[in-house]
Amino acid sequence: MAQITFYKHDPIPLEMHKVKTVQQLRLLPTRERLKKMYEAGFNTFQLHNGDIFMDMLTDSGVNAMSDVAQSAMLRADDAYAGSETYYRMENKLRELFGMQYCLPAHQGRAAENILATRFVTPGKVVIMNYHFTTAKAHITRLGGRVEELVKYEGLEPKSDLPFKGDIDLERLEKCIQDETPENVAFVRLESGTNLIGGQPMSYANIKAATEICKKYGIITVLDASLLQDNLYFIKIREEGMKDKSTREITRMIADCFDIIYFSARKFGFARGGGILIRDKAMHDSMEDLVPMFEGFMTYGGMSVKEMEAMTVGFDESMDMDVISQGPQFVDYCVRALDEYGIPVITPGGGLGAHLDASQFVGHIPQTQYPAGALVCALYICGSIRGMERGTLSEERNADGSERMASMELVRLAFPRRVFTLSQTEYVIDRVKWVYDHREMIGGLKFIHEPKTLRFFTGILEPVSDWPEKLAEAYIADFGEEQ
Ligand SMILES: Cc1ncc(COP(=O)(O)O)c(C=O)c1O
Repeated sequence: MAQITFYKHDPIPLEMHKVKTVQQLRLLPTRERLKKMYEAGFNTFQLHNGDIFMDMLTDSGVNAMSDVAQSAMLRADDAYAGSETYYRMENKLRELFGMQYCLPAHQGRAAENILATRFVTPGKVVIMNYHFTTAKAHITRLGGRVEELVKYEGLEPKSDLPFKGDIDLERLEKCIQDETPENVAFVRLESGTNLIGGQPMSYANIKAATEICKKYGIITVLDASLLQDNLYFIKIREEGMKDKSTREITRMIADCFDIIYFSARKFGFARGGGILIRDKAMHDSMEDLVPMFEGFMTYGGMSVKEMEAMTVGFDESMDMDVISQGPQFVDYCVRALDEYGIPVITPGGGLGAHLDASQFVGHIPQTQYPAGALVCALYICGSIRGMERGTLSEERNADGSERMASMELVRLAFPRRVFTLSQTEYVIDRVKWVYDHREMIGGLKFIHEPKTLRFFTGILEPVSDWPEKLAEAYIADFGEEQ
């Protein structure tokens, strides 16, 4: 079921689930939020979750679990070695992806560590449609480089291209020739993309790109962390795919790759990760990294309860009633913001609604982190926690200069089956208010700047007293309590 038809109403996203357990939320008064923002060093990762009303930081590990997934946890087979739960999970992955060999990892970045450690040596290049922060950090840590070849339209905020995550095939082939195939560690395709607005890849592009790689004998790797959204988009947007089942599409995609890895904090609606490998020799060449960094081969740092739940979650990721919920809520939110004239990435992708901070707060220079400032403004004015996905999420160049991000985005994630449509309406309303007061928002500067993945633990401060003035304007409109 992709969308319910209404009798006297335009279609709206309709939840195909009901609520059984709830978590109480609280809305701190604005001045308290301002204080919390200072305490968190103007970094939304440093906020306490209890001080947040709408936690839209990420979907990672916070998607709602079904009753079936939760009850499966009870039958988890606790064993250090040979857990039956692990074999159930492995068999489910084999069934869905058709790859024989599996290495467990405690989360997605642990899988990235294993792959980078195995294939990346100084000077080698990893070609991608687009990078993800942790994937890139592991590659550069080992002296490798990343080449991003997403189609030009993928970096344009406004577009009606259905698959903005596609890799540019001509540039891919040219890059392989220029770098020489021997120097390419592997080609990594992320479907769907995280940092450029949750935009999907088409099956046609995946197939063509991996065929080019095969021609040159290059290893192909799929990051399937956001595959469930991508499956939905392929089914509803790609010509000739609507009559194929999500399972068929999954297998068609999988058949293109040598290796697939995933974060089960996303794919599988639980917490964990893993690597699937087609070739035994390739599996054997990575195997020893699992007990060294993760844990024994039949748990890889994951709790057996989580493995049991994600085995159910993998099946749920094949159900259109389940996987349509996220993209449809994103689409609803994006359309409402776009109609108001708010710069937002279109078309809506998976994962979340993405505000284009380079236009929203275009008066803030990139060196003062416009997306970082906007994300803080949304917490102060509305208790909404988003995530900066722009220059602040980049790492500095070797000479210490800022590496300017190609997009300055604020991501408002929609963890699956977590928020209601009225909560979504609240978010839309507050983003509109912030947009109407955007001139009041100023920049940020670092006072503690870690070298790697600085967005997680960096501490910043505002360049002026703009947060106080913004909070007072908000209180003038909504009162002390909101
Ligand atoms: C596309 C993609 N790859 C890899 C990762 C890393 O996964 P994890 O957070 O489980 O380490 C993420 C996490 O957000 C992601 O979105």
